[in-house]
Amino acid sequence: MSEYIPLDADFIKTNLDTRRVGREVIIYDSTTSTNDIAAGCAQNKTKSDGLVIFAEHQTAGRGRRGNQWFDDGGKSILCTVVLYNPKIEADMITIAAAVGLTETIDKDARIKWPNDIILAGKKTAGVLVETFGEKRKKYYAVGIGINCHQTKKDFPAELAKTATSIDIQSGVQCDRNSLAKRLIMNLDHFFESAVKRPDEIVEKWQSRSMLLHRRITVEHNSEDFTGNCIGIEPAEGLIIQLERGGVRMFDAASTTIVKVWTDGGNNV
Ligand code: BTN
Repeated sequence: MSEYIPLDADFIKTNLDTRRVGREVIIYDSTTSTNDIAAGCAQNKTKSDGLVIFAEHQTAGRGRRGNQWFDDGGKSILCTVVLYNPKIEADMITIAAAVGLTETIDKDARIKWPNDIILAGKKTAGVLVETFGEKRKKYYAVGIGINCHQTKKDFPAELAKTATSIDIQSGVQCDRNSLAKRLIMNLDHFFESAVKRPDEIVEKWQSRSMLLHRRITVEHNSEDFTGNCIGIEPAEGLIIQLERGGVRMFDAASTTIVKVWTDGGNNV
């Protein structure tokens, strides 16, 4: 059992040497979803650009494609960063966030396209970017969930085989406040890099990918496709050399990774 040490906004903000992300930090004990708070409070550009909203617990946390994001209170990092007109679109924001997350979590953390962060073959964190407003008033809620103190027993049965936490992988209790601070610093850095040096960040994202040059099976429009992943492009998605012949692209909105095959033929 882990000791409950609450998130501390003063600790997180002290000496936070960032330009944009973390200009303000708010922590809720409980809310429906930090992305909901971001959607509601981001009407005021000057006040909310760079704002980071954390919650110790979400009653309606959500993931991609209508999935629920599970948490059992005080064991995760659940947060949303508000970005106003960041000069990059949602796909690049997701890429920059995924790179920032891997750098925050572990040198061995990998990205399972498009938004899962994987440690030892299991999901540890995820990113959900939502867009609000229009044209010049457009803003993004960059939602991030990281499993920190969960034990194997804490995950619901359906996640037991596919989810893990930082503590399970390291064998010691991580410091959520230090992680939160590092996350903010990395996000600030990589969001700026994504605007100024997009090629560099795409290269970093690809080098952290667990799919590139692997045999994978994806589901697209209720059909399975297996082949070698020969490329990953920010906007277009996965490029797969299919075993049934031909090369095909698969977009993030309508594709799910079913299996990442190991050399022995087992799935990850
Ligand atoms: C995914 O893996 O599908 C994305 C998960 C994103 C979860 C985070 S937790 C904080 C923020 N609030 C939410 O409701 N979702 C994101």
